[in-house]
Amino acid sequence: MSKKTVAVLFGGQSSEYGVSLQSALSVLKNINKEKYDVIPIGITVSGDWYRFTGDIDRIGTDDWWENVGKLIPVTVSVSRSTRGLLELHGARWSRVEVDAVFPVLHGRNGEDGTVQGMLELAGIPVIGCGTLASAVGMDKERAHVLAKAAGVAVPRSVGFVSSNRLRAARRAVKFGFPLFVKPVRAGSSFGVTRVDREEDLPPAMDEALRYDSRAVIEKAVPGFEVGCAVMGKDQLTVGRVDEIELAGGFFDFQEKYDTKTAKLHMPARIPAETEKRIQDTAKTVYRALDCSGFARVDMFLTPEQDIVFNEVNTIPGLTSHSRFPAMMSGVGIDFPDMLDRLLEMYI
Ligand SMILES: Nc1ncnc2c1ncn2[C@@H]1O[C@H](COP(=O)(O)OP(=O)(O)O)[C@@H](O)[C@H]1O
Ligand SMILES: [Mg+2]
Repeated sequence: MSKKTVAVLFGGQSSEYGVSLQSALSVLKNINKEKYDVIPIGITVSGDWYRFTGDIDRIGTDDWWENVGKLIPVTVSVSRSTRGLLELHGARWSRVEVDAVFPVLHGRNGEDGTVQGMLELAGIPVIGCGTLASAVGMDKERAHVLAKAAGVAVPRSVGFVSSNRLRAARRAVKFGFPLFVKPVRAGSSFGVTRVDREEDLPPAMDEALRYDSRAVIEKAVPGFEVGCAVMGKDQLTVGRVDEIELAGGFFDFQEKYDTKTAKLHMPARIPAETEKRIQDTAKTVYRALDCSGFARVDMFLTPEQDIVFNEVNTIPGLTSHSRFPAMMSGVGIDFPDMLDRLLEMYI
């Protein structure tokens, strides 16, 4: 079998640039080099694309890759007669053929369907969710509409933009506190605030609108958060369910990446029957949003044992200590095996 070439995209014009560097580092380290030739491509925060020729160990530190090794300007050709990547050498372009592109990008301009759409237009297989699922998965409000239509419970919510914020606030207050205010299209808890008192609602709404022109106020779901890793196209594989135990507040950026007071339990400390219901709900959401490849579905489990959908991450964190790989390890699929299965769905 001949070796396949996969371009791995990392960084990106997103507030989650730094997280992507970590995810990409572990992908680059764990990908099967006997089966795949890998081309690492870094995207700067300002949106420039470069083929990275340096030592991959240097990628994980913020901005290091931009200062290490030779950077070759590169772009994706959307013209079919030059299908693949185009590298710029001086004033001359050269074409590099690839069998697939794996965007290891989190958040805007990478996990939101933009990069997926461009690659689909270019005729290059994209590892992971396609344009539709990526765009809907990024949009917390639309994702809830689809999940609800598929019969999955979602929190009570009201969306707002700058011009109708007062009306939205008046409606949300009727839900009762605590409330969560969050940007519609963001991640890593950026712009998310838990609000316990009415007077704290306006500043929380301002904060959410700093990250997106649309935001949402949700009634807080009691209980705790659970997640489920899903892989596949028609035939789906689910991982073990994990559980986030919070000491207070919510799962904010600090807790996600440092886990100072929050505790992650994998597998979750729940009965097998509940775990099965969570896995089934995750599959329902995955299908309702047209996901393919892989995704992590996040939900809440209430004290009454009801499952409420929170959000789907169409490019979940893939660092060595991330939740998705741990959940898959729980069903005997280690990280290199997980990557192999993922790539094999496309090439
Ligand atoms: N409706 C809600 N009820 C309870 N907690 C919530 C709710 N919405 C968000 N949270 C808390 O805020 C965190 C971040 O919100 P989330 O919607 O997952 O955004 P992000 O995409 O930034 O992860 C969640 O992990 C959870 O701790
Ligand atoms: Mg989340």
